[in-house]
Amino acid sequence: MTRIPDNAAASPFEACVASLGYQELVGLMKSRHSVRSFDDRPIEGETLAELEHEIDWCNAQAGLSIQLVRDNPEAFDGALAKYGSFRNVRNHFALVGLKGASLDEHCGYYGERLVLLSHSLGLNTCWVALTFRKGGSAAQVGEHEKFALCIAVGYGTDQGRAHKVKPVEQLCRVSKPLRSDSGEIPSWFAAGMDAAQLAPTAMNQQRFRFELETPADHTPSVRAIALPALSCGKIDLGIAKLHFELGANTVSRDWRYV
Ligand SMILES: Cc1cc2nc3c(=O)[nH]c(=O)nc-3n(C[C@H](O)[C@H](O)[C@H](O)COP(=O)(O)O)c2cc1C
Repeated sequence: MTRIPDNAAASPFEACVASLGYQELVGLMKSRHSVRSFDDRPIEGETLAELEHEIDWCNAQAGLSIQLVRDNPEAFDGALAKYGSFRNVRNHFALVGLKGASLDEHCGYYGERLVLLSHSLGLNTCWVALTFRKGGSAAQVGEHEKFALCIAVGYGTDQGRAHKVKPVEQLCRVSKPLRSDSGEIPSWFAAGMDAAQLAPTAMNQQRFRFELETPADHTPSVRAIALPALSCGKIDLGIAKLHFELGANTVSRDWRYV
């Protein structure tokens, strides 16, 4: 089963998604670009409350310890951050959780909820695995926890720019019998792939693949795979899975991951 619950009011992100039609949802994804330069405007008021509420929801849902760390420019004052073109990053989401095999994928999946929610609230973001200083972050990391990576967040000095994406055909596999007579793939799978194609990935590598299968019980099923990647493959997979679910679920919820 997909992980997005039917209860649309469960969190600010669910409410946001429920208020959007398919085109608006894809529009939100299309207009999000990584932004690495921010102005001094603090995150506060209703915007802050929405983000904190969503973080609490994600942490409860997945057993994570995600934190919004505000006014902590020290995490981005090192040479790596400057080399990576980061300017005036004052806030970040610290993606922290118990060490384990599923941590990276969970960070990708729940972190991207925060990225899209932030974007819908007029904020800008950039996923950051390498070009920041973990030791400079004020995030709390427990004894058995790992600080996997972070997401820079704030009001950008620009809106970033679009990057080239791979054609959908390179990102999925659909076996012949599942195609309709006209050769079309099922519309919910196509909607999922259009959304997955827009998922940000480390170094824009897009090393994931979605395979459509029909098992013995005939429930349409999707196998999501992280292909060998230079880094962050499982995190990227989590991000892409969130996008796929969001897109596919606008057409049909009658499918599951295997
Ligand atoms: C898991 C992950 C890690 C990333 N790490 C970094 C990083 O360390 N430094 C950086 O400048 N950008 C980083 N990025 C941003 C990617 O370069 C960016 O998302 C990608 O090039 C696609 O561009 P877009 O986000 O504008 O669509 C990361 C992205 C992801 C998803």
